Amino acid sequence: MLDGKQGKGKALAAQVLISVGESLDAERLVPITRAHVSLSAQGADIWFAEKMAAAGAVCAVPPTVNPGYSLDFFSKCSMLSAEAEKNMRRTEDAYRRLGAKLTYCCTPYLNDNIPAHGEIVSFSETNATIYVNSVIGAKTNRESAATALCAAITGFTPEYGLLLEENRFADTVVEVDAEMTDDFSYSLLGLMGQKIGTGIPVFCGLPVKITTEQLINLGTQLNVSGSFGLFHIPGVTPDSVTLRDALGNKKPKKTVLITAEDLDTARRQHVLSDGEAVDFVMLGCPHYTYKQILEISSLLDDSTCSIPVYILTSRCTKAVAKQNGILDRLSQKNVWLIADTCVDEVPVWGILSGKTGVSDSPKCSYYMAAFHVTIKVMDAGSCIRHAIRQ
Ligand code: F3S
Repeated sequence: MLDGKQGKGKALAAQVLISVGESLDAERLVPITRAHVSLSAQGADIWFAEKMAAAGAVCAVPPTVNPGYSLDFFSKCSMLSAEAEKNMRRTEDAYRRLGAKLTYCCTPYLNDNIPAHGEIVSFSETNATIYVNSVIGAKTNRESAATALCAAITGFTPEYGLLLEENRFADTVVEVDAEMTDDFSYSLLGLMGQKIGTGIPVFCGLPVKITTEQLINLGTQLNVSGSFGLFHIPGVTPDSVTLRDALGNKKPKKTVLITAEDLDTARRQHVLSDGEAVDFVMLGCPHYTYKQILEISSLLDDSTCSIPVYILTSRCTKAVAKQNGILDRLSQKNVWLIADTCVDEVPVWGILSGKTGVSDSPKCSYYMAAFHVTIKVMDAGSCIRHAIRQ
């Protein structure tokens, strides 16, 4: 492959992976069975995908891809410049030529690309890598869009880090002494990354039943406040039935206590000041599940929102919502389900520059701040109450 016998594109991708592997002391490349590429439809992403496509690369393992922005939705409301539309079309064209599955979703592990326990995969997108490692028990490193694409093209990835069994045990016990009452508590817990520090945490003291949405929130926000590819929760993480299993029978390097006060401090950092006006609500970072959309629908009851509520979700979830009449019901109430789209897309959300919104996702706040959109963070119910009351 490296010699170009399978084409110039595969040779380029192999070169990238071998260089990464050598720099991280990987001893070999191992086959992958799935990939997810955190496409962004922005400059560097378009450059790399077009370079690979022009070199004739075609994916040996068709990857799913992250959201860009919905041409359908944003063209209809005239939110797209000619240049933005052109960039999205170039992205789509390059990834189509590469043989990717154009799913445009950042929670592929729920619908389109679900690994099995123990499967070796190459996933970029931090909320996806941590979920498949920690909740499903598949194995992936925290790949970049480029390395995940190269793995998809070649069908191989360098074996290092979280692909090696001995590197997957927890080394930090996180004692949670706080009531974890709703989905938002798990986002706040995720914001404790700085206090937890580096390493692989195992969370103790959490309720026995934790929902999919809560696990998504925890993993997502751990990568806003820190950098984590894997966490353990005894009874949730496969192979970690007990704390001992999670630690691999070793002593932890440290124990960190998270209290209700810690979570409250994180909550207070993002609150709206009294009387502060809100221009919009942004939900769905990561993409909302059908269950979350139903919850918003029931929170609205008969009310209509006086400011727009944007909910980002996957194509298939939006299709189900349409089929069930929820999409129409929500749009009559100024709530817009948008597929294929990420909060980190200046070409579409740039129009919100200088405005203030609310979201249930600290990650949304972090990304939108880069283009001067202020996002205050609160639970989804409070976001909707603001939308109704404004
Ligand atoms: Fe998904 Fe974009 Fe948020 S990829 S997790 S909507 S920053």
